[in-house]
Amino acid sequence: MSVTVRVPAKVNVQLAVGAVRSDGFHDLANVFLAVGLYDEVTVTEADELRVTCAGHDAGQVPLDRTNLAARAALVLAERHGRRPDVHIHIAKDIPVAGGMAGGSADGAGALAACDALWGTNASSDELLDICAELGSDVPFSLVGGAALGTGRGEKLRPLEVGGTFHWVFAMADGGLSTPAVFREFDRLGEGTDIPEPVASEDLLAALEKGDTAALAAALTNDLQPAALSLRPSLADTLAAGRAAGALAGLVSGSGPTTAFLVADAESAGTVARALRESGTCRAVRVAAGPAPGATVL
Ligand code: C5P
Repeated sequence: MSVTVRVPAKVNVQLAVGAVRSDGFHDLANVFLAVGLYDEVTVTEADELRVTCAGHDAGQVPLDRTNLAARAALVLAERHGRRPDVHIHIAKDIPVAGGMAGGSADGAGALAACDALWGTNASSDELLDICAELGSDVPFSLVGGAALGTGRGEKLRPLEVGGTFHWVFAMADGGLSTPAVFREFDRLGEGTDIPEPVASEDLLAALEKGDTAALAAALTNDLQPAALSLRPSLADTLAAGRAAGALAGLVSGSGPTTAFLVADAESAGTVARALRESGTCRAVRVAAGPAPGATVL
């Protein structure tokens, strides 16, 4: 018997970052939007826990117990007093280490899949609790849609979204390490007063109304200067997308994927073509949001 779960990527439409905390994390006001780029996680009964992965960046995905999908199976099994003996297969479409929560998606997907396969019937509170233990972005991958994440991003408040937003994503060569980008954020902010992170009222209103122009005007990412400092070539990608007619462009999360908000599906096609021809990125994808969270197929 096997169970397959489909899990979306995310883009951060606002990522406000506070000063580093004593535990090394940063308080955030993190507005997540799930978009229709998906990984599919299939779990099958097996003699022992193992992970395989296929897809674009499959070679860069760790197949040991550091993989969030393996950790999800281990934590759920331990909590329910059973063996974690499953084969987890990840069909990967979300860029690896790209700032689109691909690893988090696999963690949330494996958790939902094991819960269904084993008939654990964990409550949604328990599943969210396990997700938060796995990583700051994992709870959002489970619920999808749009949400404001506070704390280190794991405390979620679902948000109303009044329309569909069209995006173009430009994938860069290689990934960026999230801890390294946060460290660079700390370095760039040394000696300055870093304000408490707060969600932008204008941005939340734009999401609620489904107003693309207003959302474009309100997009912000406090990690962008750090990502650009570590990967200066991303400035060329951002310039190419804006020149091609995107309403706004920003680094997605800790990068290096860049995200461009466009007026409609037609404009997405135009901007995607221009980005492909610009030679400033490895690959280009079009996706719309909000998208549903982890879904058993
Ligand atoms: O929670 P997660 O394991 O995804 O975080 C990865 C790393 O990103 C953390 O070890 C930390 O360095 C950084 N991080 C942070 N503040 C957050 C979330 C992540 O500093 N709110």
